[in-house]
Amino acid sequence: MDQLDHISIQYDGEPYTVPSGRTILTALEEIGLRFVRGIGCRGGVCGACTVFYRVDGEPELHAGLMCQDPVIDGMDIMPLPAFPQKKARYDLELPEGDTADYRVVALYPEVNRCIMCSECVRVCPMGLDVMGYVGMIKRGDLRHAAEASFTCIQCQACALRCPAQISQPNAALAARRFYGRHQAPQAEHLTKSVERTQDEKFQRNMERLRRVDMDALRILYQRQEREPGDAPPGTWLPEDRSML
Ligand code: SF4
Ligand code: SF4
Ligand code: FES
Repeated sequence: MDQLDHISIQYDGEPYTVPSGRTILTALEEIGLRFVRGIGCRGGVCGACTVFYRVDGEPELHAGLMCQDPVIDGMDIMPLPAFPQKKARYDLELPEGDTADYRVVALYPEVNRCIMCSECVRVCPMGLDVMGYVGMIKRGDLRHAAEASFTCIQCQACALRCPAQISQPNAALAARRFYGRHQAPQAEHLTKSVERTQDEKFQRNMERLRRVDMDALRILYQRQEREPGDAPPGTWLPEDRSML
């Protein structure tokens, strides 16, 4: 690789020359850095590799994911340190006379301190309307808060920047949990499937599977039939119905 393919960055206070055209993670790994913490899925879903960075000559502080964001010449990158955040303790049962929406606000009353500065929206690497879902929690609209925060990867970038010291990801997690437990429509097919696990035929088949040795199990796994993505709901059945 010639010199033109290399760029200069700083990572955690140290200068490095790295190959361009990579994510921050692969660029640093290619020059020999090994990460034993702060990296997880490598696919942009676990939030473990969150970093803040500035690019030379630009005023903005950005948040990003090392496994997703491209390396840019002049970047000054700092990994997000672990920092203590509020994690309310709760179970999902509601005290007498309580409602799910009230309970979430009672667990995270600091959502009422949101000053709508929008900093959380600006830094969210998933592009979520964080301020919006905080407002939904405040208003008791758990359904929309759950939907709006569904792809939150718990990276904590918003919480680090919040001047009102709200833990947005943990409040949203509580909103999704209480919504799922108390307000979301129950999935009928799931209830039926769970019930079916109790019947005699299902138990017999499970017993049969438990006795199968590893090679036979592997063959069974490789031969499994999968529902095609375009099958109209409720119409597809596998050819081998012995387990049904
Ligand atoms: S950063 Fe905090 S105060 Fe600002 S809009 Fe987001 S939740 Fe509200
Ligand atoms: S909402 Fe906050 S914790 Fe969730 S992905 Fe966005 S910045 Fe990260
Ligand atoms: S390693 Fe999981 S989001 Fe980057």
